[in-house]
Amino acid sequence: MKTISFYDTKPYDKYFFEKQQGQYDFAINFYEEKLNKHTARMAEGSDAVVAFVNDTLDAPTLDRLYGLGIRVVGMRCAGYNNVDFNAAKDRIRILRVPAYSPYAVAEHAMGMALMLNRKLHRAYNRTREYNFSLNGLTGFDFHGKTIGVIGTGKIGQAFIDICLGFGMKILAFDPYPAARDGVTYVELDTLCRESSVISLHCPLTKDTKHIINADTIAKMKEGVIVINTSRGALIDSEALLEGIKAHKIGAAGLDVYEEETDFFYEDRSDRIMQDDVLARLISMPNVVVTSHQAFLTAEALGNIAEVTLRNLYDYFNGKELVNEVKLQG
Ligand code: NAI
Repeated sequence: MKTISFYDTKPYDKYFFEKQQGQYDFAINFYEEKLNKHTARMAEGSDAVVAFVNDTLDAPTLDRLYGLGIRVVGMRCAGYNNVDFNAAKDRIRILRVPAYSPYAVAEHAMGMALMLNRKLHRAYNRTREYNFSLNGLTGFDFHGKTIGVIGTGKIGQAFIDICLGFGMKILAFDPYPAARDGVTYVELDTLCRESSVISLHCPLTKDTKHIINADTIAKMKEGVIVINTSRGALIDSEALLEGIKAHKIGAAGLDVYEEETDFFYEDRSDRIMQDDVLARLISMPNVVVTSHQAFLTAEALGNIAEVTLRNLYDYFNGKELVNEVKLQG
């Protein structure tokens, strides 16, 4: 029986992986710690590691895992920007779950856009105190408005389907456009200039880091709603904060944040927040932050568990690794 060291475990991970575990011959050691160069030693004696979005798979961590005999890491997520592929190359195979529920993320993105536009977060707080005033809660119809979608892969497409259902006009930016009706591909500048809502659905790469920055924000419509359910570093957070303070950005829905690793998924309510930009963003009446939860549906968690374990089963049984991520070039 092969043993897996499972990092950054939360109760919902354990529940879904234990449900699927019976189908495969694996023993799983669930650790609450995040994977990094210090915690890598906990994998001693294991045959594989399972990691998540806020684990650190940098060169020192991968060196240590390799030294412990680990030759495969199953990422239980789609993104892999936290993996140093140069350090993994020819030593540790990196497997992932390319899609577990694009609908989960797309629905969360639209949920945030609706919440911010119609100020549902503020209405919720008001009525709990029997404050039934509508002042300051005015939104705008999504119907007929233009929405800019950056990245039209699996999640972007699911999001576009939802937007089309609302009767929105879709502008998209993606270096690899998808052939489909109802979507107009444009340059990023045009998308920024013409969209009332902008939603990010591209991966974090060297080309997309800070794709939303002071320059792109300057081109946006006043009052634009910006939604990020992809990766925090797609947005220059300080530029976003300035855009909000200048009333250029009408609202921001952030499921991800560039420095989220130290905070997200943890209860930090009894600590002093050390990240001034995050604290300031959270203090804004027109910003909603969720803790990288867009994926969190029962369907997605079930698929993540199934595909992660099947990837590792395929590795240990010499089968083709359809979900392996390799360094390009
Ligand atoms: P995908 O690989 O199906 O689609 C990504 C799209 O982005 C592709 O069409 C690609 O051509 C496009 N793209 C690449 N470079 C670009 C650029 N420079 N500008 C614009 N578009 C570009 O990926 P999928 O499944 O749609 O996921 C998208 C992202 O969502 C992931 O990379 C991940 O970061 C994020 N994600 C977030 C989750 C959450 O819980 N918040 C859960 C799952 C994914």
